[in-house]
Amino acid sequence: LRTTTRAQLGRRWYIATDQLKVGIVGTGMVGATAAYAMILQGIGREIVLVDLNKKRTEAEADDLNHAVPFTKPELVTVGDYPDLDGCKVVVVAAGVSQKPGETRQALLGRNAKVFETVIPKILQHSPKATLLVATNPVDVMTHLAARFAAAHGAPASHVLGTGTCLDSARFSHLLGRHLGVDSSSVHGYVVGEHGDSEVLLWSLVTVGGVPLDDYCQARQILLDDAIKRDIDFKVRRAAYRIIEGKGSTYYGVGAAIAAIVHAIIHNEKCVLTICAPMATVAGVQNTTVAMPFLVGGDGVIAVLPLSLQGEEYAQLSKSAEVIKEAIAGIDE
Ligand code: LAC
Repeated sequence: LRTTTRAQLGRRWYIATDQLKVGIVGTGMVGATAAYAMILQGIGREIVLVDLNKKRTEAEADDLNHAVPFTKPELVTVGDYPDLDGCKVVVVAAGVSQKPGETRQALLGRNAKVFETVIPKILQHSPKATLLVATNPVDVMTHLAARFAAAHGAPASHVLGTGTCLDSARFSHLLGRHLGVDSSSVHGYVVGEHGDSEVLLWSLVTVGGVPLDDYCQARQILLDDAIKRDIDFKVRRAAYRIIEGKGSTYYGVGAAIAAIVHAIIHNEKCVLTICAPMATVAGVQNTTVAMPFLVGGDGVIAVLPLSLQGEEYAQLSKSAEVIKEAIAGIDE
């Protein structure tokens, strides 16, 4: 029986885990919470944290590693860009976040500068990784990351952003509460900008596969325009309310990041309202918006063909234009 040396075993073990190595660049509350969400669910086998603030990142890694014995095997390390080599996914959460009352678009100038440094370094050291952008304004930041990736010859499918995954979750949560149905059985899409112009697609909502209006009629549940406006407002303004109360949001987006990472490293081929560059959406060319996309091992597989009518189509078109104008603003 040939003895397998530690190096050979180690190498083979390491190769086996290449598909389960995740990098997180930017370990503020969002990045660190995403790592925590992955650890609790046993997503990945190695998480590499990269951040300018080494002291805090070392402390985050220590604290996260102390959670591992209570869950599944995972190793959290602190590194620099070269240590991202071999990552299947690199989460980009670097940059500044909203202050109370601040819009996501207001962060663009500062975070675009951060990306000019961060994205090329990630691509240089982890050229095969899928980049998952979480930094806000996430749609425009994803568009920027995709430009750098294209310049490095990376496939377009390898760049996506958290988009409106969190907003769709908020929509399902709030509507589910009104209907008395668990959010996992309420399928509602929020599309467009992850921001003030986002669009809740009421016309496509299903409850356990049953169209929303049919469900409400059968169960005699009132869902009039006033209730819809209230839910819409609460979804759209959720982040502002949370930031007003506790300074920033991180649990929801951290869980969303973990779910998208899981979809990629396990090649789930599931539908998520991530954001990705699109040649045309609702009559608007060359912009990056959140739509229901099929997501798998190589990132973006396809966008779902939504047949939107009237008001919803017009709102999506307007939202796509908002992002396109923000992108143009960077190029000026
Ligand atoms: C939010 C941040 C992630 O919506 O934009 O909570």
